[in-house]
Amino acid sequence: MERSFVMVKPDGVQRGLIGEIISRFEKKGLKLVAARFESLPDGRVQEQYREHLEKPFFPGLKSYITSGPVFLMVWEGKNVVPIVRLLVGATNPAEALPGTIRGDFAIDIGRNVIHASDSNESAAREIAIHFKNDDLVGYSAIAEPMIYE
Ligand code: PPS
Repeated sequence: MERSFVMVKPDGVQRGLIGEIISRFEKKGLKLVAARFESLPDGRVQEQYREHLEKPFFPGLKSYITSGPVFLMVWEGKNVVPIVRLLVGATNPAEALPGTIRGDFAIDIGRNVIHASDSNESAAREIAIHFKNDDLVGYSAIAEPMIYE
C-alpha cells in the first residue's frame, strides 16, 4: 500500500486544526499509520526542504517551521499521495479551491498550514527523515472492505 508524509505546520497546530485535518483524511478512507508531535530541529528542516535551501524564501520558511511544534503523520492508502495533495489544495492558498484544507483555512503561502509529499519518491524520503520503520503501525482497518473493492 502506498504511503504519504503529512505535516501540520506550526500555524495549523496553534490554530487548533490538527483534529479537522485528521478527520478529513479519515473520512476519505485513508489510514493513519504513524504520528508524532514535536518541535523540529534545524537539521531535519534542512533535510525536509533540501531542494529549497538556496531559494530566497528558505530563511523565512525555516523560521516559520521552527516557530513551534508540528504534527508529523504517515497516511496509507491506494493512491494516497495524489489524494492527499487534492485534499490539501494548491501550495499558494490564494489559488487553493474552497473545500481543500488550504482553500478553507489559509491565506498566505508562508502560513499554508500543512505539508504533503508530492510523489511516492518524496514520500519515502520524507518518511525516512522523520520516522523509523518501527514507528509505522501495520494493521487492517475493519472498514477496508467498504473502502476498497
Ligand atoms: S518552488 O520554488 O516552486 O519549487 O517552491 P514551491 O513548490 O512553491 O514551494 C516549496 C515549499 O516551500 C514553501 N514556500 C514557502 N514557505 C514560506 N514562505 C514562502 N514565501 C514560501 N514559498 C514557498 C511551500 O509551501 C513548499 O513547502 P510545503 O511544505 O511543501 O508546502
